[in-house]
Amino acid sequence: MQITVIGCGYVGLTTSVALAYIGHRVHCIDQNQERVQALQNGIVPMHEMGVAELLGQLRDRISFGRWDSFNLTTEVIIIAVGTPRKDNGEADTSYVEAVARELGQRLSGDGLPIIVNKSTVPIGSARRVESVVSYYLKSRGINIPVTVASNPEFLREGVALYDTFYPDRIVVGANQGEAINILREMYAPILEQTFIPPEFLPRPDSYNLPAFITTTPTSAELIKYAANTFLAMKISYINEIAGLAERVGADILEVARGIGLDKRIGVQYLNAGIGWGGSCFGKDVQALIHTAGQYDYDMPLSSATIQVNLRQREEIIRKLQSALKVLRGSTVGLLGLSFKPGTDDLRDAPSITVAKRLIEMGAHVKAYDPVAMENCRKSHPELDMLYANSAEELAHGSDALVLVTEWKEFLSLPYNQLGKLMRQKVIVDGRNVLDRQLLTEAGFNYIGVGR
Ligand SMILES: NC(=O)c1ccc[n+]([C@@H]2O[C@H](COP(=O)([O-])OP(=O)(O)OC[C@H]3O[C@@H](n4cnc5c(N)ncnc54)[C@H](O)[C@@H]3O)[C@@H](O)[C@H]2O)c1
Repeated sequence: MQITVIGCGYVGLTTSVALAYIGHRVHCIDQNQERVQALQNGIVPMHEMGVAELLGQLRDRISFGRWDSFNLTTEVIIIAVGTPRKDNGEADTSYVEAVARELGQRLSGDGLPIIVNKSTVPIGSARRVESVVSYYLKSRGINIPVTVASNPEFLREGVALYDTFYPDRIVVGANQGEAINILREMYAPILEQTFIPPEFLPRPDSYNLPAFITTTPTSAELIKYAANTFLAMKISYINEIAGLAERVGADILEVARGIGLDKRIGVQYLNAGIGWGGSCFGKDVQALIHTAGQYDYDMPLSSATIQVNLRQREEIIRKLQSALKVLRGSTVGLLGLSFKPGTDDLRDAPSITVAKRLIEMGAHVKAYDPVAMENCRKSHPELDMLYANSAEELAHGSDALVLVTEWKEFLSLPYNQLGKLMRQKVIVDGRNVLDRQLLTEAGFNYIGVGR
């Protein structure tokens, strides 16, 4: 099929590469000239496992351009632009609106393609896009029905391609059977797993075919927000229990395992620590609460999910305070900046909140991250922070280290030697992933979360 994807960000680019890999022809449009140019030259402007590799193999099936390259013969148009959080918590749909206007001004009357909202958008957005596109088409004398389907995305950054090739389910919300059929056809190689997996992403042995869930656009839109809020709530829940575990003298790792092995609960997303971050959880939970507010409906569980998460970041400062006593003048080294391993994404990253807070309190902050430092320099010039080139440089002269991102390489650092470079041997394990016994034996004051 001929597919146009609007927005070459984490979602748009991953989707484009995966759709090209399973046999479609994909043209990807972005308004950001720098991004388009990089992609045209085969450079992937973000860190996401396997995307650059596949792009290199698929150059004949995938192309990039700005809006002037929009092709009228496309069968499906996938909207994957950002929907960031406004100050009042609402989702900012201005990028989606701009895309709808562009489409209404560009599409012709013959063989109108199916328009698909893959961006996470508030309830009613499929209808809204339909009406904006129709309005602009009508103003050009084109009076034919426009079809907009909702097809929310559930991929996780860091393993985005894996999630796209091997999803648990694909959700399509549409009022027209034709749209559902076209999307079923588009996703057929994934739904039936008929594609040959990329070498670096083998199909997991235990993988079952994904469910294809068809519903209304409204339900599809709510599914996305409800799923993200639930995942964020699960993490906030275990963090709330972790706080109590610390007080009563229980170990949250054992508690979480004891809870999670119950199949009704599940072990995933039960890791206590510094809390969740990233571009989606915070903004999506806020957007859900905002939507509920428009109906005068309270969502106390969702609101508490955010509060607990913010408290968790503050807890890290409290732990440092109790170990170092005075933060002013001390040096704290952050191990990791990205909101999770496998990505350079810093949107709503706990590292930024912790760094800001420490700087406000008069501490010197150093940071080391294997991939996100350049992005951090660019996107947070306000942070008066030293960037270290290695974990050794980070440890040198530090009073404490805080493990913020659980990059694999941080699990096996030579902590014994790092400790010798430090002024004081304090380590706050913000992800509960380090070997407490090993660190204690190396003379560290090891401080986990909920342990
Ligand atoms: N990142 C994730 O993990 C993830 C997961 C699931 C869903 N989502 C949702 O997917 C959507 C996209 O997220 P993302 O992280 O890929 O965003 P992103 O910021 O990485 O990318 C968005 C891209 O859209 C482009 N763009 C904006 N307006 C445009 C326009 N009018 N025309 C053409 N291009 C335009 C931007 O230049 C940018 O390159 C959001 O709604 C997000 O909530 C994201």
